[in-house]
Amino acid sequence: MDKLIVMGGTRLKGSISVSGAKNAVLPIMAAGILNDGESIIHNVPNLEDVKVMIKVLEAVGAKVKKEGTTLIIDSSTVNSYELSDSLVRKMRASNLVMGALAAKFGTFKTLYPGGCNIGSRPIDLHLKGLERLGLKTSEGHGYIEGKSSGLVGNSIHLDFPSVGATENIMMAACMAKGKTIIRNAAREPEIVDLQNFLNSMGANVKGAGLDVIKIEGVKKLKSSPVEHTVIPDRIEAGTHMVAAAITGGDVEIKNIIVEHVEPVISKLRECGASISNYNNCVRVTVPGRIRANDFRTLPYPGFPTDMQPQIMALMSLAQGTSVISESIFDNRFKHVDELRRMGADIKVEGRVAIVTGTERLTGAFVEATDLRAGAALVLAGLAAEDATVIENIYHIDRGYDNLEKKYSQLGAKIIRVSNLNGSN
Ligand code: EPZ
Repeated sequence: MDKLIVMGGTRLKGSISVSGAKNAVLPIMAAGILNDGESIIHNVPNLEDVKVMIKVLEAVGAKVKKEGTTLIIDSSTVNSYELSDSLVRKMRASNLVMGALAAKFGTFKTLYPGGCNIGSRPIDLHLKGLERLGLKTSEGHGYIEGKSSGLVGNSIHLDFPSVGATENIMMAACMAKGKTIIRNAAREPEIVDLQNFLNSMGANVKGAGLDVIKIEGVKKLKSSPVEHTVIPDRIEAGTHMVAAAITGGDVEIKNIIVEHVEPVISKLRECGASISNYNNCVRVTVPGRIRANDFRTLPYPGFPTDMQPQIMALMSLAQGTSVISESIFDNRFKHVDELRRMGADIKVEGRVAIVTGTERLTGAFVEATDLRAGAALVLAGLAAEDATVIENIYHIDRGYDNLEKKYSQLGAKIIRVSNLNGSN
């Protein structure tokens, strides 16, 4: 298993570019099943999760080619609506093909997703929405099956603005008979990107980015090639902003959509960071010591849960005590124990973490427990004294495209060590 060795103490300086958004490209790849032709998707990040989603698409019969950061999906050969369990176990987001398979075949069969290191991750809201469109779902032996004689538009109210449920229902409703309205829809920018992709293939989706999305079902989607460029990754951008702040550096982060990272910019400014923004860039410096602050993760446009571990690393070194409330996931504090090994002073009470800032963190042997927790440990390592060794970095590779290379370009002393004999 690869590991990262991070030598702390270097102030990051320079300019870094953000890759395409993981949480936009995965639903867009799933939607590539819907039409009967080629989808040409640009600005695709090189991530493990993208590799898994390619295997998912190939498992249902699509042909997929990747040329650099361009993905070409030919769905004219899609001929199966069943997903193998090994793929679904690897990545929860593989369930994003349920809606597209239901739209194309009127049916789907997939594995019930397991929990993961940030919580139980149920899909009841996905299934309730798909049932409103006429799918009869049944569960057994760990599988879920949806059957219908064709989907019919309906009104759907989500108990919670679930990102994945919103995306699955949007895809399923594209070719349903009649109109679908999704109320209390998720408003994340990745939903807007999916809407734009669906409409580029001839669907009729309106309202993404707001809490009511309207879909007018169409009989057939375009089979001529559709092209789309994925939006930049706002969570990667936020992670780099924290990297600049935690090392007391001066970093320009390029190729972003500033509006998408506003929730992070405003909180970092409250903590004393100086952030200027100009044509698709932000520049982050921190004159003096970062100040403690309170955070509550919320659906977009609130503070993103995917930035919670990273901001906790930063608050571990802040002046004062911070209260961090995780309102989205029921168990997204696995990084706390690892930060404590580095000297962080953090108390957890249910979904609230109380972080008392210390003067310094020290290098330690730690392990990544999920994607963003791993990123948080890299950030803490960049600021800690001595060396930090991070195990299980495949979690980081799931969502970051060569993170260590990007930070080395900013002066960080960070190397990847491949454990060639594969032992733990
Ligand atoms: C998406 O996950 C993202 N993943 C997550 O990013 C992100 O943290 C999350 O949205 C919230 O923003 C992708 O887009 C691939 P949800 P998703 O459905 O769709 C509960 C990362 O690090 N819920 O909005 O699975 C659920 O348990 C990853 O990049 C139900 O109860 O998130 C959670 O508590 C992590 N029933 C909350 O809603 C359901 O049917 C939010 O989940 C669905 C969700």
